[in-house]
Amino acid sequence: MQSPDARQGGVFVSFEGIDGSGKSTQARRLAAALGDRAVLTREPGGAPGAEEIRRLLVEGDPARWSPETEILLFTAARRDHLERTIRPALAAGKVVITDRFADSTRIYQGTARASLRPLVDDLHALMIGVEPDLTFLIDMEPEAALARGLARQSGEDRFETLGADFQRALRTGFLDLARAAPDRICVIDGARAPEMIAAEIAETFHAWEVA
Ligand code: ADP
Ligand code: TYD
Repeated sequence: MQSPDARQGGVFVSFEGIDGSGKSTQARRLAAALGDRAVLTREPGGAPGAEEIRRLLVEGDPARWSPETEILLFTAARRDHLERTIRPALAAGKVVITDRFADSTRIYQGTARASLRPLVDDLHALMIGVEPDLTFLIDMEPEAALARGLARQSGEDRFETLGADFQRALRTGFLDLARAAPDRICVIDGARAPEMIAAEIAETFHAWEVA
C-alpha cells in the first residue's frame, strides 16, 4: 500500500460495497473511533450542491436518466464533493472517510452497461483524477444485503429495486476491482456482527498508518 510518507496532508479512505452491505454503519464506526481527526462524508452527496444532485439520482423512476446522463450526474456530484469537502479536509490534515467514491461508478454504471466503462474511466481521469489511499470493500451475499437494505424503506431505492441479479453482478465487479488493486482495496467479510467488522477495519487502518 502507498506509504503514509508519500501522502500530502490527510488520509483519504473510502467504503464500497453493494447496497445494504453495511458500508454506512462501518464508515460511521471508523469515524467515531478516530474522533476529531475524521471527516465523515458520502456519495452521491457530501457537499450542498452534490446533495442536490443526489436527490436527482437516488429518487424516482429507475429509467429516469439515460446511462450517459447518469454517469455525468455522478461525476458532477463527485467533482463538487472533491472541491468543497474532500480537498479542503485533506489539506487540513483530516482523515476523510467517504461512504462510496469512484469505484461505485466504475461498478454500478460500468456493470449496467459494460460498453460505458471506458467513458466512466475517461471522465474520471478528466474531472476527478484521485483515488482513495485506502478502500474497505464490505463484501457479502446479495440476498442478505438486499433484505437489510429494503427493510430500511428509505425512499432512496432507485438502484436497490434493480434486483438480486444486478446486485450479484455488482458484487463480482467489486471483487474483480479489489483483485486488480490489492494495494488499495481491502476486502472485508460483511456477514458478521458489526462490532467484529469494525474491530478488523480499525486494526487494518492503524496498521496501514504505521506501515
Ligand atoms: P449500506 O450503507 O451498505 O447500504 P448500512 O450500513 O446502511 O448499509 O446497513 C444496512 C442495514 O443493515 C441497516 O439497517 C443496518 O443497521 C444493518 N446492518 C449494518 N451492518 C450490519 C451487520 N454487520 N449485521 C446485521 N445488520 C447490519
Ligand atoms: P448509497 O446512499 O450509498 O446507498 P446504499 O446505502 O443503499 O448503499 O448510494 C445510493 C445509490 O447510488 C446506491 O444504490 C449506489 C448508487 N451509486 C451509483 O450507482 N453510482 C455511484 O457512483 C455512486 C456513488 C452511487
